[in-house]
Parts: sequence; C-alpha cells; structure tokens
Amino acid sequence: MLTRAAVLYDTEKPRPYAASLPLVIEEIELEGPGEGEVLVEIAGAGLCHSDLSTINGAIGRPVPRHLHLPGPAPVVLGHEASGIVHEVGPGVRDLAPGDHVVFSFVPMCGHCKYCAVGRPVLCVNGGKANLAGTLLNNTIRFHKGNEPVLHFLGAAAFSQYTVAAQESLVKIDKEVPLDKAALFGCAILTGVGAVVNTAKVSPGASVVVFGLGGVGLSAVMGAKLAGAFPIIAVDTQPSKFELAQRLGADYTVNALDGDPVKAVKALSSGGTDYAFEAVGNAKVLAQAFEVTVRGGTTVSIGMAPPTQQLSIQASNLTYMEKTLMGSFMGSAVPRRDIPRFINLYMNGKLPVDELVSQHLGLDEINAGFDRLAEGATVRQIIKF
Ligand SMILES: NC(=O)c1ccc[n+]([C@@H]2O[C@H](COP(=O)([O-])OP(=O)(O)OC[C@H]3O[C@@H](n4cnc5c(N)ncnc54)[C@H](O)[C@@H]3O)[C@@H](O)[C@H]2O)c1
Ligand SMILES: [Zn+2]
Ligand SMILES: [Zn+2]
Repeated sequence: MLTRAAVLYDTEKPRPYAASLPLVIEEIELEGPGEGEVLVEIAGAGLCHSDLSTINGAIGRPVPRHLHLPGPAPVVLGHEASGIVHEVGPGVRDLAPGDHVVFSFVPMCGHCKYCAVGRPVLCVNGGKANLAGTLLNNTIRFHKGNEPVLHFLGAAAFSQYTVAAQESLVKIDKEVPLDKAALFGCAILTGVGAVVNTAKVSPGASVVVFGLGGVGLSAVMGAKLAGAFPIIAVDTQPSKFELAQRLGADYTVNALDGDPVKAVKALSSGGTDYAFEAVGNAKVLAQAFEVTVRGGTTVSIGMAPPTQQLSIQASNLTYMEKTLMGSFMGSAVPRRDIPRFINLYMNGKLPVDELVSQHLGLDEINAGFDRLAEGATVRQIIKF
C-alpha cells in the first residue's frame, strides 16, 4: 500500500525548518505485516525532543549495517504514538483488527537476559533493531522505489500507516482518548517512570526537575503523585512556569537568572533529595548532581549529544554518598506501566491533557519542530 509519511533525508538542514523542510511529506510504499508484525493506522503522534535531536544530528541516526548502504538511508521519524490495529500478520496472538494500541519505543524480545530479569528497556535485541532502524526481526517494511526507508525506534509513527513488531505495541482500553494516549508511549512513561520506577521517590522527599518540556513536566506530575515536597521546577523559558505550578511545582527557577544551583539550594534548605535532568545537556546534569544533598540521587533522563562528557566533583560522589542514575524510558515495563499510568489519568490522578499545547496536521510538522526547538511549546500532537 501507499502511505503519506514524514521522511528525514538530511540532518544538515538549518532552522527555520518551516523553510528548509528537513522532513519531506511524501507517499512511500509500505509492505503488509509479516510474521509477528502488525499494520497500525496511526491516530496521534507527539513531537518529542528525541525526534528533534535526530533531525538536527545531535544524537545521530539509525544505520542498518547489514544493508551495506553507501550513505545513511532515509528514515520515518516519530516514536510517541497511538493507533488502531488494521491487520495482523501470522503468529500475532494478542492483537486483532480494531484494537487500540500505544507504541513502546523499545521493542522487548522477551528472552534476552535483560528481558528475563524484568528490565525490557535494556532489551539487547530491541536496542540493536533501534540502532539499525529496522523492526525487531531486522526487516524494513517502508520503501521508496528500490530504496529502503528506515523505521525510527520501531515505531515510524509520522505516517498514516506503519508496520510494527507486536513487541512494540501495548493494547489499551477503547475509552481512552486516542490522541492523548500517544503521550503515554514517551513523555509520560519516561517522566513519571523516572520518578516512580527509577528513583522511587517517597512522600516528603524534595525534588528538583531541570527542563520543563513534555518529559520534565511529566516528572513534575510524577513527583506530585509520589507526595514529594517541595517540588522545584527549573527552565530557561519563564513561559513554562505557570503550567509547571498547575502540575505540582511549589517553586520555579529561571536558569538564566543567576546560578540555578544557588537558587534551588536557597529554596530547599541547602539542596534536594532528588534531582531530575530532562534537558539533554551534560552541564545541566552536573548542576543537577551538585544541587542534591548528602545521600541524594540524581537521575539523568535527557539525551545529551554523545560528544558531551559529564564533569562532576568525584569526591562528592564518595563522601556524600550520592547516587547518579540513568533512566531510559522511565525504567518501564511498558505492558505494566502504560495501562497503570492510563488508569491514573482516566481517574483524574495524572493531568495529562495539560501537556497538549496543540494539534497539527502532518503538513505542519516542520514548523512544529521549530516551535519545539525554540522551547515555545510542550507537546504538539499530529492528528491523522
Ligand atoms: N530517557 C528517555 O528515555 C527519554 C525519552 C524521551 C526524551 N528524552 C530526552 O529528554 C529530553 C527532554 O525531552 P522533551 O521532549 O521534554 O524536550 P523539550 O524540548 O520539550 O523540553 C526541554 C526543556 O528544557 C529547557 N531547557 C533548555 N536549556 C535549559 C537549561 N540550561 N536549564 C533548564 N532548562 C533548559 C527548554 O526550555 C525546554 O523547556 C531530551 O533530551 C530528550 O531527547 C529522553
Ligand atoms: Zn520521546
Ligand atoms: Zn530482550
């Protein structure tokens, strides 16, 4: 079949993207689902900073080494998404046409050593497929003429239709508003998961969150849910502060207004028990580490470019018994956590609607990434 998709060819395009058009909207071919695969009609797809960091080259792009291509292949971006199952391939047991699904951006193979110990975000085979831009079984279902077009993070959701491994999909209740359901695949899973799964914040613990995009604001929501106090929210864009307060922040700090470490320490009797970095910048991660108290925990959520090194005072790690942790996809077990967080949302305990800044058509996607790059928006959702 043919599907309209947003395809990234070139990561050298300058901003504004509305003029340079790094994402080309075009019809490409999509093969039907093979063994263990599912054809999904996308309902909603969020614009996440990880897509943006692929567009601007900050975090690299998938390379299918087994194809021995002369240059990087084009890729269909988009990984925070929801949709409706259209057709299932042979061997798909738990999904049927008409089912509503959310994408998990790491497919879990179910049998590697990390899947076996209940840490599917570290799945060896899912990680390999994501680096290669293929589905879990190494296949590529998008083509333009004879050229392969890669699948970003097993989802390739900036397309009317996509084919995904069944291991990339989590079935959800049909009562959940489908566009907002998309956010449970990345922003909510990552931000709330970092607080409740990775850090396991307890009631009364103090928390600071650096970066108030979809991910950081989800961490603020998670901290509120966990009973943290105070919750301090830091950003360089004061336009984010009112929303952060509505979602649970007790104080806000403008990182451009002097030293944010000093400001956070002043608001938290000398530092916080937990600090979450949701910007993707090693300097901000160092600030997060510095602002935690003795015995404190710093959680790295942001994806800093691989060229950046983290510089912290090493002795503080030791004699202050600090902890530095990474949190990928909220240390989630997607089939446990996506329904769990959706249940909280549906019962008024997670104000996810507040994260939606606007809806866009696929044609407006380049301008949408300009807004994200400017820090002027939280979550924009492409509706199909
Ligand atoms: N760990 C994971 O599994 C995972 C999943 C999704 C996204 N991410 C990463 O998380 C990060 C945030 O993603 P997002 O979609 O929320 O991004 P976003 O662009 O919506 O938000 C980033 C925020 O950081 C703010 N910011 C920029 N510089 C700052 C500074 N020096 N101090 C404080 N705030 C600053 C921006 O103003 C913006 O509000 C990205 O690096 C993204 O790649 C990680
Ligand atoms: Zn994301
Ligand atoms: Zn695995």
